[in-house]
Amino acid sequence: LTNASLNFKDYIRVIEDFPTPGISFKDITTLLKDGQAYRAAIQELRSMVEKYQIDLIAGPEARGFVIGAPLALELGVGFVPVRKSGKLPGETISASYSLEYGSDQLAMHKDAIVPGQRVLIADDLLATGGTIATVVELVQKLGGVIVGAAFLIELEELQGRKKFEGIEVHSLVTY
Ligand code: PRP
Ligand code: MG
Repeated sequence: LTNASLNFKDYIRVIEDFPTPGISFKDITTLLKDGQAYRAAIQELRSMVEKYQIDLIAGPEARGFVIGAPLALELGVGFVPVRKSGKLPGETISASYSLEYGSDQLAMHKDAIVPGQRVLIADDLLATGGTIATVVELVQKLGGVIVGAAFLIELEELQGRKKFEGIEVHSLVTY
């Protein structure tokens, strides 16, 4: 089976009304537990972004780790975790954001990026774009140059891309 013959949507489970009524949750645990599909998804993302010159991948806790870290390994670049506030032990910068449901705060270590380093942002899902807009803000504050953003899933009707125009967005699967 080649990557091209895998329909990644077949591996993503959709659960209605989670975590709140009206939300159609895209559950990637069903893809992650399938070794072949998980690897194929990461390899497919790599093929979409390998044209960029990348120094680091930044991915937001928690689901951004399961996409960003293996993608970093595939590309042979470093990984920077963007964490929910209060988790990182060193000096941090943080920013608040709102979600499709609820709100939260993300933080990065101040020395996570050397100014001028080229950063690809990775996450499992682009919904409203609030999470990634916050990652963009933090990475730029640290002097990072964002080369693009890569997602497993994009919810097109929420138009999250509009929150960070000028940044190229790549997604494997759209709803
Ligand atoms: C989910 C998802 C994305 C974000 C997308 O994360 O993993 O990071 O929401 O939504 P947005 O585009 O509207 O910001 P969540 O905050 O639920 O946390 P998790 O990754 O820790 O599960
Ligand atoms: Mg997340």
